[in-house]
Amino acid sequence: MSSDFPTAIRWEKGELWLLDQTRLPHSVNYEKQESAQQLFDSIHALKVRGAPAIGIAAAYGLCVVMAQHRHLAFAEFQRELITQADFINSSRPTAVNLQWALERLKSIAATFTEPDTAKLLARLVSEAEAIHDEDKALCKGIGEQALALITDDCGIMTHCNAGALATGGIGTATAPMYLAHANGQKFRVFSNETRPLLQGSRLTSWELHCAGIDVTLLTDNMAAQTMASGAIDMVIVGTDRVVANGDVANKIGTLGVAILARHYNIPFYVACPSSTVDLQTANGSLIPIEQRNGDEVRGFGGQKATIDEIKTINPAFDVTPAELVSGIITEKGIVSAPYNENLKALFAH
Ligand code: MRU
Repeated sequence: MSSDFPTAIRWEKGELWLLDQTRLPHSVNYEKQESAQQLFDSIHALKVRGAPAIGIAAAYGLCVVMAQHRHLAFAEFQRELITQADFINSSRPTAVNLQWALERLKSIAATFTEPDTAKLLARLVSEAEAIHDEDKALCKGIGEQALALITDDCGIMTHCNAGALATGGIGTATAPMYLAHANGQKFRVFSNETRPLLQGSRLTSWELHCAGIDVTLLTDNMAAQTMASGAIDMVIVGTDRVVANGDVANKIGTLGVAILARHYNIPFYVACPSSTVDLQTANGSLIPIEQRNGDEVRGFGGQKATIDEIKTINPAFDVTPAELVSGIITEKGIVSAPYNENLKALFAH
């Protein structure tokens, strides 16, 4: 991808700047994050979004917030850090990366042996930077593991945005696409629009187009017909949480795509870094699914598609059962069934 494509997160001299993704692709605007409440609102409103990106943003954001508390006595500082981290963590429940990144910082604060707030703060910043750098490397690793799946002239369907905008690097589902494109391979990507918030049209199709990748946009209800036409050779999506038995939470609509893929005998892959694998949760029924405001379903971008009185449902994610997943692409390798055993073998250490 081109080096001038906007990154989701900028960390500059102790300042956290987030690209407001709700305004993409028409306006590229960064907002400086100055408080826990602002960061909570940015994550909740999907200004920053995508599992890895919200983990990175939360880690930096906690550093920004704790820098404002640097005058506290050490023990008080440690207690305040837990309060602020738990508050930021409550902004969105489904992506495990948010909790994972904040836990890394909490654990450093809890075990820091020198009672020196300034030194702890510096250590927290270096950990947040490490989370960011690691994610970049994990994305590349995912791409390398999945590169062989992309054959010349193949058609790949994706859903939502598991791209550069959702991570610190070249995305998860998009990572093999960026690498294959850089190698000169020809293939086509079909990006589902992803109602209600249109991550497919606003983000995925835009970022792939900017990279020069052949991308076609379709509305979600066109997925079946597109598969039936023979245009799709595989599906690759991202995920917000993979649990121990291989069930996978991802953007609402992913489950439908997986069921369709099974019907048409099309492999369905899920790409994610190890930070998205949650072996503590036994199965998908235990994943908390975010429920969002019904106005997102009643219209889009201030345009109403119905009247305010109409009842709605608006789960932000669904859970695809492991039996529909052909493989989970991680930076360590592609895991296939039986997931209970194989995920544990890959990630236990
Ligand atoms: O609500 P969003 O836009 O944060 O949902 C994002 C997704 O569902 C992505 O597929 C997932 O977080 C993986 S991002 C690499």
